[in-house]
Amino acid sequence: MKRKIRLLGSRLIRGAELRTSRIPGFYRLSVEQRLAFLAHSFNLTDEQVSQLRNGNALRIEHAVNMVENAVGVLGLPLGLGLNFLVDGREYLVPMAIEEASIIAAASKAALMIRKGGGFRTETSDPVMIGQVQILDLKDPEDAARRLLDSKREIIERANLANPRMVQRGGGVFDIEPRIIDGGEGFGKMIALHLLFNVCEAMGANAVNYACEAVGSMVENITGGRVNLRILSNLADRRMAKAEFVLPVEYLATKELSGWEVAQRMVEANRFAEVDTYRAATHNKGIFNGICAAALALGQDWRAIEAGGHAYAAKDGRYKALTSYWVSKGNLHGKIELPLQVGIVGGATSAHPGVKILMTISGVDTSRQLAGLLAAVGLGQNFSAILALSTVGIQKGHMALHARSVAISVGVPPEDIDDIAQEMIKRGQVKIEVAEEIYRNIKQKPKMKKENDELPVETFAPGKVVLFGEHATVYNYPGISAAIDIGLKMRVNYDPDGPRFLHPDFKQVFPVPESDNDIRMFSKAVYEALEMYGLQKEQIGIQIESELVPGMGLGSSAAFSVALCSSLRRYRHIESKKRWNSDLFEEVQKLESIFHGHPSGMDAATILSGGVLWFRKGPPREFLPIQMPSPMSGIICLVEPGARTIELVQRVKRRREMHRKYIDNILEDIGNLTVDAGIALGTGDCVEAGRLMFRNHELLARLGVSTKALDRAVELLLDYGVLGAKLTGSGGGGAVIAIVKPEQQYALVEELSGEFAMVLPFALGALR
Ligand code: MEV
Repeated sequence: MKRKIRLLGSRLIRGAELRTSRIPGFYRLSVEQRLAFLAHSFNLTDEQVSQLRNGNALRIEHAVNMVENAVGVLGLPLGLGLNFLVDGREYLVPMAIEEASIIAAASKAALMIRKGGGFRTETSDPVMIGQVQILDLKDPEDAARRLLDSKREIIERANLANPRMVQRGGGVFDIEPRIIDGGEGFGKMIALHLLFNVCEAMGANAVNYACEAVGSMVENITGGRVNLRILSNLADRRMAKAEFVLPVEYLATKELSGWEVAQRMVEANRFAEVDTYRAATHNKGIFNGICAAALALGQDWRAIEAGGHAYAAKDGRYKALTSYWVSKGNLHGKIELPLQVGIVGGATSAHPGVKILMTISGVDTSRQLAGLLAAVGLGQNFSAILALSTVGIQKGHMALHARSVAISVGVPPEDIDDIAQEMIKRGQVKIEVAEEIYRNIKQKPKMKKENDELPVETFAPGKVVLFGEHATVYNYPGISAAIDIGLKMRVNYDPDGPRFLHPDFKQVFPVPESDNDIRMFSKAVYEALEMYGLQKEQIGIQIESELVPGMGLGSSAAFSVALCSSLRRYRHIESKKRWNSDLFEEVQKLESIFHGHPSGMDAATILSGGVLWFRKGPPREFLPIQMPSPMSGIICLVEPGARTIELVQRVKRRREMHRKYIDNILEDIGNLTVDAGIALGTGDCVEAGRLMFRNHELLARLGVSTKALDRAVELLLDYGVLGAKLTGSGGGGAVIAIVKPEQQYALVEELSGEFAMVLPFALGALR
């Protein structure tokens, strides 16, 4: 569903619309790229972007007007909870929190839950309760009756204190005297409740004014003595409920069926329903999400927490705020709690940073905000109990987080897993720690891994051909690049090994020969086991790939590189050199299972981790191209790919028939590739883009493009990319584009409806 985005509550942004909160690979972007995406999507000024980045939206000049004895302003990490689909609307949820993994866990839950249609919420009117404590009553029952008889006057007096709220349709609309036994030495007292519709505000001040305004009138009516006059944070007239329904199959893991996982989650929730010790932790996890979002959105998170915990004890015993059950093949989850939130007043008006974040959240009303926070709380809890019921909480998110920290400090692909694991082992997943470990790794020769140090985990990137495909067959140069999307391999102890387990490929199009493909992967595994003398080893090899096979993304080469690197590490065959020609030859041997006579370009590119100039030779040329800074790109998966060998033969046949015509095209591609090498090496992305368009035209004239690929390139041109072309052998498959960094995520979002899949990538970011 589309929504209009408004800035600072009133200024309408020119035509900007957020179509989805699903932004694949957001975590892989640099902070600058993420900010560029926000700036583009929400029309933020440079100053606002800088305020978000530096956390200095709130200046000390503001702070002194907010609290007493101000000495400074405190910062906290700020992130975005992604993937939230709530009542059919897409939300990016700003979250401010110091605890690692909370934002990743919320985003992961929202991603899973959107597969079942997202969250549904219900909220009640924004009714707060004000309390007036009345003591020293001779006849409390009679006093209560007299209060009810004077209801109209009490309401009128209370509303005189808040005329603007009344103008907006709010104000006190009812009263409820409650007789409470104060116990020995106190006797009975009355808590007079004022029920106050606070409209779009959180309402604490308005309620407190109303309570104070009726104090003396209440004393006159009851003959008693008024003590406290203050709101109640048990805002149980201001409830929010969020629910989801998720088919259990989405919960299945490699070890457990979806039904088993769902059942374990129901058991986990039951634990928190019947045991207060567990309930406290369970609900703490819920408030991890709610409070992080509440804080970023300028809400009184202490009030929200107090209300939530009090409500959790409403039946006389403190218990879980959530319930879970399985019915008709679905896992159901529900949360119900008071949510006292506002979109006007308080920090939402006083804090410039909160105003920006409110805009990003897309929330328009206080009820919407309450529903969203309830969904965030439920999502956070879903992730926590899912992880606790399966892999455990530490493993669940730490690994992901640790990898992204390692990547963010520029660790080369082959070291990312080692560094991530070391950080987890030390319990310190931090940039400084990653840098320190990386420094040590670089200084020391690599430690040999013991066999019992399984699992061995490896990541190999994918690749794209940037320039020169087909011309390379005729000994012109080509340029290809490793991309930050790839394949993870895990070698683990397996008593039934050696074997190749559960290949988890991303499949987008039906691949008629997929069975064959999987068999080729298995064949490569057994070839590799033989190559390293591991035919009798008790190991299982598992992969998880982001690279769609058959799309020219180097799926098979990434697989071969990961396999050879993993088995070498397992056998303690280590190399200090980045480029290792033995490893290259071993990879090539596996590649020949997939491609007959591979050129080596894919393997070399992936092993280099960078941008590579290539010529078949002899002599073969592999020259790294150093880019001054990474370039941003997108890959659009357009249609099923064709077999490289067939396309190569098609060009060969056409060349036999129209020798001069085809040779001229091949030569033009060759010349253009030389220019492209210079453009990439000098960081000239505009020129590189122009050459890409030209390269596509030439490939089309060569006869290897298709209508769908041409249309995709035209569409990308219309969207203002710097350059686009088919990539790989053609005849179908994918189109790549170089884009301005600030365009990248908006394009992924805007084009996701046009293509089977759109993936962001960075060039020159991996080395
Ligand atoms: C940690 O901050 C929160 C959890 O302990 C919540 C829970 O146990 O449900 C993981």
